[in-house]
Amino acid sequence: PDAAGYEAENGTLSQAVVESNHAGYTGTGFVNYDNVAGGYVEFTVPATTTGPATLTFRYANGTTGDRPLAVAVNGTATATAFPATGAWTTWRTVTVTATLVAGPNTVRATAATAAGGPNLDSVTVGGQAGTDWSVA
Ligand code: GCU
Repeated sequence: PDAAGYEAENGTLSQAVVESNHAGYTGTGFVNYDNVAGGYVEFTVPATTTGPATLTFRYANGTTGDRPLAVAVNGTATATAFPATGAWTTWRTVTVTATLVAGPNTVRATAATAAGGPNLDSVTVGGQAGTDWSVA
């Protein structure tokens, strides 16, 4: 397929828990990062070829401040803002561009501040237009 979806609740979690008390999530729940720096959600993303990919994070942030995540693909991190969405039941997307390599890729989203991350619903990985990249 040209895109693959990963539910956050199916990822490998550290200092984060699965919850379902705020409506509007997909799958069976979402991940609530602990309110500390360093908690993460990790996925293994298989790709058929090396090339640029778009990682779309669906999240909610019911606070008034940013809940930034460091999004690392195979260890190379990109600081990424997850701005307030207005309510914990209001879900929006943030997109990160990264290069995936052929074979398994490790995608880890780590809370960058002591407030912890946003509530994370899912990550969708897709190839960019004009490339022959695809998810295995
Ligand atoms: C509230 C909210 C949680 C959220 C948390 C936070 O407790 O109910 O879903 O994760 O705030 O600030 O991270």
